[in-house]
Amino acid sequence: MNLLDGTGPVMNDQDQMLKTAQAEFAAATTPADLENAKARFLGKSGLVTELLKGMAALPVEQKKTRGAEINVLKAGIEAALTARRQALADAELALQLKAEALDVSLPGRQRGSGGLHPITRAMARIEAIFGSMGFDVADGPEIENDWFNFTALNTPADHPARSMHDTFYVENGHVLRTHTSPMQIRYAVQHVKRHAGLIAAGQAMPEIRVIAPGRTYRVDSDATHSPMFHQVEGLWVGTNISFKDLKSVYVNFLQQFFETTEMEIRFRPSYFPFTEPSAEIDMMFATGPLKGRWLEVSGAGQVHPQVIRNMGLDPETYIGFAFGSGIDRLAMLRYGVSDLRQFFDGDLRFLAQFQ
Ligand code: PHE
Repeated sequence: MNLLDGTGPVMNDQDQMLKTAQAEFAAATTPADLENAKARFLGKSGLVTELLKGMAALPVEQKKTRGAEINVLKAGIEAALTARRQALADAELALQLKAEALDVSLPGRQRGSGGLHPITRAMARIEAIFGSMGFDVADGPEIENDWFNFTALNTPADHPARSMHDTFYVENGHVLRTHTSPMQIRYAVQHVKRHAGLIAAGQAMPEIRVIAPGRTYRVDSDATHSPMFHQVEGLWVGTNISFKDLKSVYVNFLQQFFETTEMEIRFRPSYFPFTEPSAEIDMMFATGPLKGRWLEVSGAGQVHPQVIRNMGLDPETYIGFAFGSGIDRLAMLRYGVSDLRQFFDGDLRFLAQFQ
């Protein structure tokens, strides 16, 4: 008698039927197969349903025990079905996870993080220090004309700074600025314009107190000179500004820049056409590898009366000082770099050390 074809009398061995159902469910490998198998047992004309229908013919006294037996069978088949449904769903999920697997153990591709160039860092440091002393920060053109680069700075036509040997001339007599000093004139003229009302009324204008860092150019190239280099100009002009102010500002700056007071600083007489008197500022560390060597760090001086005039001011009323320092030199000393050209070679092995 075939249990499953529904032709013969229904087998009433419940254990056997449960085993068969479990085997059929186990054989179903897709949800559709499983639902078909379920229909054969629990469907409208499924085997369990047929058993229940068959009860109608039983005498009353047998109905109770028979009903209980069939319910146990039905519960067993339903439990097997649920378990198989869950197993198929689990298998499907496992397959999907495997197909969409992401290998998190593979090292990621790093995005290189850039950093600031040591000269940029030195400039930021200089700006912060002078900023804390009340200095404005100004920026100006690298291609200058004769007036701002030379003439307004009292530099005569026969001055060696104008020589073809150390200056990059471009068209129409323009030059790549040989120093940041043209910014003295550019900034002062703007300042005077801004306060023209006060000046016309015979009142004192607010003091000029500014630094102007930036690129400068000269035909020069060795371990301590690069054709492109950086300077920072400083200018403080008022009615009562003296060399004593220059000294206190500059000493304060050097001490903060190098984070030490263990140094000597001297002002050595010198000459610049746009300052009178003029000085070179030298420093000597009292400790460290550079101990005991005088190092030249800046040109400086009291702004020449003719330059004050070229700013649009009366040298009988206004007086002040200016300085121009090599930023690359200061950065070399601060970071212990022996060849200036390394700053501009673009070698990442060198530059990465400053990050
Ligand atoms: N401009 C001068 C130089 O480049 C430096 C300097 C600036 C000197 C301001 C005096 C005052 O050498």
